[in-house]
Parts: sequence; C-alpha cells; structure tokens
Amino acid sequence: MKKITIFIIIIVIGVIGFLVLNKVQNKNEENKYRYNDLTKVGYNDDEINYIYSKLDESNINILLRYSYQKELKNLLEHKDFKMNNLNNYLEMKDKITIDLDDIIYIVNDNSYKEDITYNEFVISMIKEEYYLKDRLDRYIDYHTKNTKKTVKEVIQNVNANLDYEFYTNTSSTDTSKGTLMIVNKYYKLDESYVPDDLVDVESKYGANKQMSKVAYEAFIELFNDAQKQGYNLYIASPYRSYQYQTTLYNNYVKSDGKKNADTYSARPGYSEHQTGLAADVMARGNSSLNEFENTKEFKWMKKNAYKYGFILRYPENKEYITGYIYEPWHYRYVGKEAAKTIYEKNLTYEEYYAYYVDKK
Ligand code: DAL
Ligand code: ZN
Repeated sequence: MKKITIFIIIIVIGVIGFLVLNKVQNKNEENKYRYNDLTKVGYNDDEINYIYSKLDESNINILLRYSYQKELKNLLEHKDFKMNNLNNYLEMKDKITIDLDDIIYIVNDNSYKEDITYNEFVISMIKEEYYLKDRLDRYIDYHTKNTKKTVKEVIQNVNANLDYEFYTNTSSTDTSKGTLMIVNKYYKLDESYVPDDLVDVESKYGANKQMSKVAYEAFIELFNDAQKQGYNLYIASPYRSYQYQTTLYNNYVKSDGKKNADTYSARPGYSEHQTGLAADVMARGNSSLNEFENTKEFKWMKKNAYKYGFILRYPENKEYITGYIYEPWHYRYVGKEAAKTIYEKNLTYEEYYAYYVDKK
C-alpha cells in the first residue's frame, strides 16, 4: 500500500515536473529570437532575458548592429530615454566616449550628426541657453575661427549672424511676422514696402509725420502715462519711406564718408524706420536727438518703455551686435511680451528674433 502511494506521488511529481519544464522550454523557444547573436556580441543570459523583456524584435535587431553595451540597462531606464531614438543613442555611444546623460540630451535634441566631433566645447554649446540646433555647423565654424570666444559668446554672436560681415548674406525681411519683423544689416525691406496701417502723428505727440497704427497707439498710452508723471516726450522721427532713407543715408555718406555713415545710418531698405514700428524720441524742448540721453525723460523711457511694448533698439555696449552706435532715442515697438523678455533678459532684438521668432 505504502509503496503504491510513494509510486503515485513520484509519478505525480514527475508529471508536474515534466509539464513545468515543458512550459519553460516553450517559453525559451518563443523567446529565442536571435539568442545566439546576442550571446556572440557578449550578452549573458540575464542580460538577454532583460533585453527580451524590454525590446521587441526590431529593436533587438537595432541593438545587434552595435558592439556589446555594458550600460544598456542604464540607457533603457534613463528618465529621458525614447525608444524611437535607440539607433542614434547606440550609434553615438559606439563612436564617442561621453556621458550617457549627454548622449541622451544630444540625440533627443536632434543635435546628433555623424560628421561632428562632440568635444567638450560642442557639448556645452548644445546645452547653452539660446542654442539653435539648425546653427550648429555655424557655431562650430565660428568657434574654429574665434577660439578665444566663450560658449555664450559663440551662441550669441552666431544667433545675431555676426559670423557674416554686415550687409552680406542678406535676405528679405519676413514681414508676415508683423510687429515682430526684423530689419537690420542682414534683413531688408523691398523698396516698395510701405506699412498698411500708417496714421498721422498728432501734433501733441510729435512732428507732423506718420507711424504704424499699432505702434502709435501703444506710444500714446506710454506718452500719456509719462506725462501724468511729469515727463514730456516728443516723436521726432517715426516712419521713413525707402526714398527718404535713401536721401538721408546719401547725405550722411557725402558729409561723413561711407564708413562713418554706416555706424549710425541704415542703408535704404535696411532701416527699421521703414517698418513704421520705430520712432526716434526726444524730450519736448530738446533741439536734437543727442540731447535726449541727459534728460529725465530718457531715464523714464529706459525703465518703462518695455511696459508699453517698446525696446531701446540700439543699446550701449551692444554696438557690435546691432551694427549701430548707441542710440538712446531710437525705440522699436515689438509688443509687450517680446519687450518684457528683451528687457528682462537684456537681449538685443537680433538675439531675440533668432531664438524666439525665427525658429517658430
Ligand atoms: N539710425 C538708424 C539705425 C536708422 O538709420 O535706421
Ligand atoms: Zn532711429
């Protein structure tokens, strides 16, 4: 009797054992996808089981294009890991020895290109504020020619197009950007461009000239608030036509030479005044723009213009970026949001445009 019981128990255990083993084997059978290839690359059974649990067949095929990845688990479990980028992570990792964090950052940012050497400088640029991935080649070129410039300077200068000489590589202003359009030594307006919302400036606000309505209305608000606080402003020169700018510029060239004229006067088509969004401003009673800097009105404008959507367009110490000498009197309407950012982050419009407007 006992023998029979033991016999039956053994049989039952045997059957269960067989079934379990069979199941495990079946499972291995199912999961054997490229098992030998993975072993050959150097993955052990634990790692292979991990791979099976994380990667589907197409991603296993991607993995097999590359050498053994000791950090595979760290990669797959990184907080910023994206499965779609697997191939690029692995390709970059295979070629360059840099931190996993950097690889993931660069690939996710779409800043990985095969022909680029990712040295420390390049990696810092990619992580720098205002970095634009479309300009990476230009940053690298500019850095090669200006090795003493810091990462910040390289980004700033290339964003402002300073890797090109003024008045070279010019293109047409994208006027569809409206109040955010840019006009400078790289972006020009057609001879035929005239703002479609020009209005006359009333004599209480300034000279008998015209200005774009949107900028004019913002200026009236600014003017009235300033006046309430005891500051009296005057619009001296708002909109200027292409033809008028031609006369102005040519006269300056005649009297002062082209090189000097270019430091303070825009060539025709390159003047912001043609947008109708800019105005030269004085304190009422000033007899020239040069007097404005030493007035209380200027101090007020410096502090408050941005609240109404205006920026000091050609600031002190930014001459090399804007291409013009410091002009305390020249204000440009860009809208409140842009003006606030420009004011708070101490940017030129060149830098702002590249990062916040053009890339959008
Ligand atoms: N003075 C500014 C730069 C102009 O001529 O538009
Ligand atoms: Zn001006």
